[in-house]
Amino acid sequence: MTQRTSILNLLNIQHPIIQAPMVGVSTPKLAAEVSNAGALGSIGLGGSTPEQARELIQTTRALTTAPFNVNLFCHQPAQAKPGVEQAWLGHMASLFRAYKTEPPASLSLGYVSFLESEAMLQVLLDERPAVVSFHFGLPPNEWIKQLQAAGITILACVTTPAEARLAQAAQVNALIAQGMEAGGHRGVFDPADDQLIGTFALVSVLAEMTELPIIAAGGIMNGSGIVASQKLGAAAVQMGTAFVCCPESSANEQYRQALQSERSERTAISADISGRPARGMVNRLFTDIGGAHAPTRPDYPITYDATKALSAAAISQGDYDFAVQWAGQGAPLSRAMPAAELIAVLVQEMQTA
Ligand SMILES: Cc1cc2nc3c(=O)[nH]c(=O)nc-3n(C[C@H](O)[C@H](O)[C@H](O)COP(=O)(O)O)c2cc1C
Repeated sequence: MTQRTSILNLLNIQHPIIQAPMVGVSTPKLAAEVSNAGALGSIGLGGSTPEQARELIQTTRALTTAPFNVNLFCHQPAQAKPGVEQAWLGHMASLFRAYKTEPPASLSLGYVSFLESEAMLQVLLDERPAVVSFHFGLPPNEWIKQLQAAGITILACVTTPAEARLAQAAQVNALIAQGMEAGGHRGVFDPADDQLIGTFALVSVLAEMTELPIIAAGGIMNGSGIVASQKLGAAAVQMGTAFVCCPESSANEQYRQALQSERSERTAISADISGRPARGMVNRLFTDIGGAHAPTRPDYPITYDATKALSAAAISQGDYDFAVQWAGQGAPLSRAMPAAELIAVLVQEMQTA
């Protein structure tokens, strides 16, 4: 069996395309439309409580009988450091005051790592989505075994050969090879050791290194990109930015317009927005937070709490300069069309590529 047919069997899909989980952008409707079109839709549960996660899974299941993927964040649990957080808020105070808003008195965690949430593990074991994927690291091997014993296929995002070896040792079913072109948060396990390997090199190296199916992610926007990834050794692709402008996503109008404008040509990676490196369209979030004189930033996702407060203050006054607009380097190729139509177009393009 070729890798290509084996991944279609493993994920029980017809097309080797995964719509990336995207907290804040993907929705049950988007995932269901993608899955109903024969690819694999995903929902992001990284920012959800176990109760919200259960509801999102059930909502998606009500919209499709096809398999879909649910995604969890496995970052090292954040440590509250009140001194660091106060210094960070002090550093950002002038940005808040420009919107006639005082910075929050303190920062909150927002959401916990999957590593800290046996309640979330129980939701997955109860609800048994067909596929579960991990970002930022791996849960304990025992949890992976329990999920697989419940019939769930496990995918892990990796950004280096070393992370791929860890995921292989944990006996995941397939690897998502995320290159530095990718939009959104880098899946790097230890953000202090980010090697920024591109999709082309990462997929090629991992294809030589492992027998596990590889899912290429980062900068893939059309059928040629999918076929090129397959030529490098990928069995399938995971695409995020390409789905942001689908009407089924929850992206706001300003985000969609930016993706369809020349602004999409300039993306950058910053860790000062959330506390972990992530790529988005450059706006004042990238240029005005952080920098050489910034104090130590709080842990992920505590830093994100400050950014979200600033973003809300700016947006309440009609200013989107501090809006979170994650996007990959392929963003100028973004297309605004319903998800099912996008899958059909991608499949057609693959055939002619
Ligand atoms: C808006 C946005 C949000 C994202 N959120 C998540 C997420 O919640 N979980 C995750 O595993 N990956 C997330 N990612 C990364 C994707 O899984 C994937 O690696 C990336 O989209 C691939 O690159 P591309 O955007 O160039 O297609 C996100 C990407 C984007 C664009």
